[in-house]
Amino acid sequence: MDRIVVRGNGPLNGQIAISGAKNACLTLMPATLLSEEPLTLTNAPRLSDIRTMATLLQSLGAEVQTMQDGKVLAMSSHAADTHVADYDIVRKMRASNLVLGPLLARHGHAVVSLPGGCAIGARPMDIHIAALEEMGAEIELKDGYLHARAARGLKGADITLRFASVGATENVVMAATLAKGTTVLRNAAREPEIVDLVTCLRKMGAEIAGEGTDTITIGGMDRLHGATHPVVADRIETGTYMLAPAIAGGEVELLGGRIDLLGAFCEKLDACGIDVAETPGGLIVKRRNGRVDAVNVVTEIFPGFPTDLQAQMMAVMCTADGVSVLEERIFENRFMHAPELVRMGAQIDVQGGTATVTGVDRLKGAPVMATDLRASVSLILAALGAEGETVVNRVYHLDRGYERVEEKLGAVGADIERVSEDG
Ligand code: UD1
Repeated sequence: MDRIVVRGNGPLNGQIAISGAKNACLTLMPATLLSEEPLTLTNAPRLSDIRTMATLLQSLGAEVQTMQDGKVLAMSSHAADTHVADYDIVRKMRASNLVLGPLLARHGHAVVSLPGGCAIGARPMDIHIAALEEMGAEIELKDGYLHARAARGLKGADITLRFASVGATENVVMAATLAKGTTVLRNAAREPEIVDLVTCLRKMGAEIAGEGTDTITIGGMDRLHGATHPVVADRIETGTYMLAPAIAGGEVELLGGRIDLLGAFCEKLDACGIDVAETPGGLIVKRRNGRVDAVNVVTEIFPGFPTDLQAQMMAVMCTADGVSVLEERIFENRFMHAPELVRMGAQIDVQGGTATVTGVDRLKGAPVMATDLRASVSLILAALGAEGETVVNRVYHLDRGYERVEEKLGAVGADIERVSEDG
């Protein structure tokens, strides 16, 4: 298994190109099941999670062709005739549950393995299930699989989610495009990935209004047609690389990065002394003074501070001036990076969903272990400013969500390399 070796070596300068959003691509791909005509996605990120979703769609009978070195995904579901999403694929990635809504809408029947717990929390499916039941589906759990059936098709409904779940919003929006009648989805998630999904569905002929607000209205259609759609820029990758010069110093331009997708994140950066400005090609980031100030962070649904940037922000706070309190409100177990950062000399006290970080002058390199996707990249960020060498082990998590991290950071002057087990 590969390791990433980082030696903290001072300021970073230059440009990093931002890839298409993993989380947007993972919901756009299952949308192919809604139409018999081809759906082509451009600006797709080259990540193992995307390959997992491609394998899942292929197992359902869809064709998925990757072109231009993986940046273009040409999909066709005209022959997709299987409605069973197998445990062996689903267990690898929770986002596999995004085939549930499209399969049910298309076949009136879906059997999808329950994704099971993952490292950052229990992540149940009750919100997805309750919403689809309101649309007329009968769903039961048997042998670890959700068996969903809507013999006479799904019907439009007025649904209020108990929590603005991203995945449940995506599943319901996709299912509702082929339902009979109109669906009104209240307390919907507002994340930019949902706006991107709706933009694509509209190109496929769907009638949808209100995306990006908490009420989305979807008019059901008999069929959707084909489309070509570019995947929106990855706001989490953008936010992650924005924090690299915050830790190591220097000035980095993120090509394709979009401030409008970052919500409260940019306000927090401003508060801790990081300047962000738009450029013709994206955005540019640098520290205002030598050391950033400690700030408190509470993770929230969009446009609040994203949970997917909490670990990276903690890495910044480890060497900030003062004490910061980070509160994780979306997932119950998302501080696994904290003990690893402590091994690098950070002072962090975790009590339940709250971490108190007392900034130290400098971290020290150490061998560390990546425990989930965002945790792994937070360790790489911390290592950029640390004294000496850090070896990040178990980087397969990283490859799920960050495209060529060592090339991107290497291009702005970081001393970073990937070492394979036999290398
Ligand atoms: C998506 C993102 C993930 C991000 C998360 C929150 C993708 C592929 N993944 O995950 O990177 O961290 O949004 O922004 O887009 N919940 C329930 N019951 C449900 C569904 C969710 O209790 O039926 C809970 C979850 O356990 C979690 C919280 O709601 O604590 C948020 O989950 P949700 O918004 O659904 O996240 P995902 O769609 O899984």
